[in-house]
Amino acid sequence: MIRVWSDNQSAGMLDRHGPRGAAFAYGEGVDAPRAVSMTMPVRVASWDHAWGLHPIFEMNLPEGALRERLRLAFAKATGTFDDLDLLAVVGRSQVGRLRYTAVDAALDEEVPFQSVDEILASRRDSGLFAFLLQRFAAYSGISGVQPKVLVRDEADSAVLSATPERKSPSVRGATHIVKFWDPNEYPHLAANEFFCLRVAEKCGLDVPRYRLAEDGSALVIDRFDLRPDGSYCGVEDFCVLNARPTSEKYRGGYETALFKRVKDFVTGETLASELGRLFTLFAVNTVLRNGDAHLKNFALVYDDVLGGPRLAPVYDVVTTTAYLPQDAMALTLGGSAKWPDAKKLASIGTLRCGLTPRRAREIFDVIATAVSEVAAEMRRYMAEHPEFAEVGERMLQEWASGIKLSLGFETPAWRPAPTLSRAALPSP
Ligand SMILES: Nc1ncnc2c1ncn2[C@@H]1O[C@H](COP(=O)(O)OP(=O)(O)O)[C@@H](O)[C@H]1O
Ligand SMILES: [Mg+2]
Repeated sequence: MIRVWSDNQSAGMLDRHGPRGAAFAYGEGVDAPRAVSMTMPVRVASWDHAWGLHPIFEMNLPEGALRERLRLAFAKATGTFDDLDLLAVVGRSQVGRLRYTAVDAALDEEVPFQSVDEILASRRDSGLFAFLLQRFAAYSGISGVQPKVLVRDEADSAVLSATPERKSPSVRGATHIVKFWDPNEYPHLAANEFFCLRVAEKCGLDVPRYRLAEDGSALVIDRFDLRPDGSYCGVEDFCVLNARPTSEKYRGGYETALFKRVKDFVTGETLASELGRLFTLFAVNTVLRNGDAHLKNFALVYDDVLGGPRLAPVYDVVTTTAYLPQDAMALTLGGSAKWPDAKKLASIGTLRCGLTPRRAREIFDVIATAVSEVAAEMRRYMAEHPEFAEVGERMLQEWASGIKLSLGFETPAWRPAPTLSRAALPSP
C-alpha cells in the first residue's frame, strides 16, 4: 500500500486489489480540491480498477529504457517488480501535482542539484549522461520511451525562490527535463525535436524554454508545470482523460479521443481559444510529419482540479519520418492513419474546432511561414554541425512534402537539392 499526495497534502491510499487490479480510497476529511484527477472526484466509495493502476497513477510511469534500468536496480531487493513498486520508487518526484510515499513516511520531494549549464556544455562521450541516468533515474517520475531524467538546476531554483510570490524557501523538486537519444535508433533526436519545437513556437504556440546541448547530445526543457513558488500544477494527459491505460495510447481516432474529449473538460470562454490552439498544434504535427502524436503527447494543465483546465504547452514534437519514412499518424482521422490532405486537415479545423474556413487557411499560412523560417535556421545549423546534415536533410524533405500535401501549398523554394531527394530513401 502507498500514500498518494496531491498538492503536498495526503489524499488517500492506493493498493493492489483483486487478481490484477488496484484500489484507491480517499482519506477521511479530504476535501474536493484535493481530488487526484478531474476524472476521480472525492467520494466515500473507493475507486477500483480491475486491470493495472488507474490511468492517473500510471500516467508518469517511466517506459522504455528508464523503466528497464529501474527494474534492474530495484527488482533485486523485492524479487518481483510491478507498477506499484515502480510508483513507490519514483513517487516523490513526478510530473504534475501528485506524489507517492510509503504509508507512514513524510513527503520529501527534494531532488539533488545538477547544473543545467554543465549538461549543455558537456560532450556526449564525457560520461555525464551515464552519470545523470544513474543518479536521477529514481527521481524521474516521467513517462515516455526515450531515455530522460528530471533534474533540479541550482541557478533556476534560486531565481524561482527569489520571486515575490514565493511560498516555499526554495524549489525542492525537479525544474528541468533532460532528454537523450540512442544513436542506433533515432540519431540526433534532440536536434530534431529542437527545430520542431521552434516551428511550434513561431506559430504562436506556448512552448516551454528548450535548449540544445552544444554537441546536440541532449535537449533540456524547463518544466511547464512548475510554478514560481516551487509548487506544481495539475497535468493530465489524454490517456487519463479517455480513461485508457498507457498501452492504448495509439488506439482510436483523433476526432473522439482528442477533439471531442477536450470539450468534455474545457468549458466556457476558454474553449474556443483552446480549440484554435489545439488545431494549430495538430496541423503542426501533421506538417512536420510527427507520427508519434499519440494520446500521451497531448495534455491539459490546471491550477484547480475542479475547473479551468487549459491545453498544456507544446512538448514532444519530432519528425519521425526522418527515421521511418513509412511512418503514418499515431491515431486515425476519418478512419485512416494516412497523412491528411489540405481539405481533410482544414475540415478538422472547421468541423471539430469551430474555426471559419478563412481562419483555418490563416493558420495554414502561419505554419508554412514558420516552417520556411526554421528551415533556413536549420540549414545554418547543419552547416555548422555536419553530423546532423543527413537527418536534417531528411527532415527538410519531409517538411516540404507536409507543406505540399497537407497544406496544399506549392513546394517551398527550400526544397533540398535533387541529389538528396526522396528517391535516396526507401520508397514510401
Ligand atoms: N516541459 C514539460 N514540463 C512538464 N512535463 C512535461 C514536459 N515535457 C513533457 N512532459 C511530460 O513528460 C512526458 C514525457 O515527455 P516526452 O517529451 O513526451 O518524452 P518522450 O519523447 O519519451 O515521449 C510527457 O508525456 C509529459 O507528460
Ligand atoms: Mg512523449
